[in-house]
Amino acid sequence: MKNYKNVTIFDHPLIHHKVAILRDKDTSTKQFRELIEEITTLMTYESCKGVPTKTVTVTTPLEDCKQQMLVEGSVAIVPILRAGLGMVSGVHTLFPTAKVGHIGMYRNEETLEPVEYYCKLPQGIERMQVILLDPMLATGGSACDAIDLLKKRGCKSIKLMNIIAAPEGVEKVAETHPDVEVYISTLDRCLNENGYILPGLGDAGDRLFGTK
Ligand code: PRP
Ligand code: URA
Repeated sequence: MKNYKNVTIFDHPLIHHKVAILRDKDTSTKQFRELIEEITTLMTYESCKGVPTKTVTVTTPLEDCKQQMLVEGSVAIVPILRAGLGMVSGVHTLFPTAKVGHIGMYRNEETLEPVEYYCKLPQGIERMQVILLDPMLATGGSACDAIDLLKKRGCKSIKLMNIIAAPEGVEKVAETHPDVEVYISTLDRCLNENGYILPGLGDAGDRLFGTK
């Protein structure tokens, strides 16, 4: 795969360790859910270095000092339903006041084309740093459509976070939306004939919610 300026692939032992357990077919739904949340928190810490801060004065037991703090209301979290829902709490751990929007999409199993079925975004999202969440980036169709939708709503600053990605999906998002920062915990080998990521982890939504 080409090197894309807007794509960051994490190389961190904590993330590698957690992804290994996440992939395992014998990992329980409970553990899967917890791991998605923990990996997301680690990714958020790394990927949000540039979020807006303001200078405040704090009085310590010894004296006043100037300190940077996050600007409340400046971050919106947008999970792509269903599987993106599992990542929301992982971002909220670090951004507890972030607003949450939802984009509902599923892939047509034959064409692999995304079908949008729901969209509710916070008021004023066009002024916020948007963190778009989906654990899986396969063909990239769902992510690209979700980004199009956010841009139509006026969003200018979008970060996409995926836990597992196929090179096909990374290329599609990176080339279609070079202005979007893409953060991936693990880059996998390829897609199979059914559009599943190899080696991957199976169907993230089903494993997260215990539906199969
Ligand atoms: C999965 C996944 C992504 C999408 C990725 O969702 O969570 O949204 O597939 O595939 P793509 O990159 O080829 O678009 P799915 O359609 O299975 O819906 P679900 O989360 O409701 O199970
Ligand atoms: N969606 C998933 O949940 N898993 C894949 O491997 C591809 C798309």
